[in-house]
Amino acid sequence: MSYIQLKGLCKKYPNATKNSVTDFNLDIEEKEFIAFVGPSGCGKSTTLRMIAGFEEISGGELYIDGKKMNNVLPRDRGIAMVFQNYALYPHMTVEKNISYGLKNMKVPSDEIKRKTDWAIDILGLEEYRNRKPKNLSGGQRQRVALGRAIVKDSKVFLMDEPLSNLDAKLRVSMRNEISKLHRQLGSTTIYVTHDQVEAMTMADRIVIMKDGVVQQVGKPMELYDHPVNKFVAGFIGSPQMNFFDVTIEGNTVKFADGKQMPLSENIINQLGGKTSGLILGIRGEDIKLDAQNLEVYGEGKQSAVVENTEVMGNENNLYFTFGGAVAVARVSKYEISQVGDSIDFTFVPSKIHFFDKETEECLF
Ligand SMILES: Nc1ncnc2c1ncn2[C@@H]1O[C@H](COP(=O)(O)OP(=O)(O)OP(=O)(O)O)[C@@H](O)[C@H]1O
Ligand SMILES: [Mg+2]
Repeated sequence: MSYIQLKGLCKKYPNATKNSVTDFNLDIEEKEFIAFVGPSGCGKSTTLRMIAGFEEISGGELYIDGKKMNNVLPRDRGIAMVFQNYALYPHMTVEKNISYGLKNMKVPSDEIKRKTDWAIDILGLEEYRNRKPKNLSGGQRQRVALGRAIVKDSKVFLMDEPLSNLDAKLRVSMRNEISKLHRQLGSTTIYVTHDQVEAMTMADRIVIMKDGVVQQVGKPMELYDHPVNKFVAGFIGSPQMNFFDVTIEGNTVKFADGKQMPLSENIINQLGGKTSGLILGIRGEDIKLDAQNLEVYGEGKQSAVVENTEVMGNENNLYFTFGGAVAVARVSKYEISQVGDSIDFTFVPSKIHFFDKETEECLF
């Protein structure tokens, strides 16, 4: 049996006209790192708070370690939570902030000392032990908030956007620290974020939500390579996947601006005879400009004029109008193109996705 089970969890807030979370099903294995990801308001925090016990469950069942938790008090669920808007006690030192919860729980003082020292050590806070929060950087405060959670000996950690207040560089280093901590503690972690990069880099599996409904659950690369619908395809990956309205004639894809691209019968057959109401999706890195790919996939060669570039250092994004949309190709830093340049490019056929325009489901 899985360690945490969500069975048809629903949440309808009193006075709300519709559910904030609908029929959420998920089995989480012990020691797994799960990320909930999705746009603002999709129900991530609500789900997490139902698991923690801070929000009543309107429907469905929650099990932790085989025990039904729906009506168990938060403190008896064996969970530690780092909140979206954590607040440290401003008048207490780092050490006191971390140990305060244990004191409240009447833990013997030698044990409080041992656990607090361990947390301070593992989080690299020794130097700041006697400082108050106002004299700490954002990242150091964040680590204190984590410290308060990890001393509680919980087998389950729930984290709600714990890095949202930090600058980009600090987020990357804290991301690594949290991953390391997760492995060291051997805990089961659910991590909420609206940042798909965080979800991709940290999680064993990602749950992607929209409007209170789970869209897809899978390993990061499963979601990236095999999105079930256009929403998932567009949410995971940056820059976003390119989408084009297309129709099929014979073995040829026709774009909205009249451009044509032949595809193999093999690919066309997978559409099961559907020829209109289609969206073609391709990621920027699967649009190729280099000589080798142009030779291999030359049959589908297209051209356009670069309208904008984003120089990222390690790679460049080239924007151009094609197929009735603005498309973006991700090319290596060695493929230098400027605004106004004409480019030839080709889509890697095996990386093309098709979506039903009406249902937005991925056809393959
Ligand atoms: N106490 C509440 N009463 C009524 N509606 C609420 C309450 N809390 C949240 N909601 C609504 O439930 C939905 C889900 O909210 P939730 O906070 O779970 O979203 P979220 O995915 O965590 O978003 P964010 O990324 O902005 O934190 C939203 O439409 C929100 O307005
Ligand atoms: Mg939230």
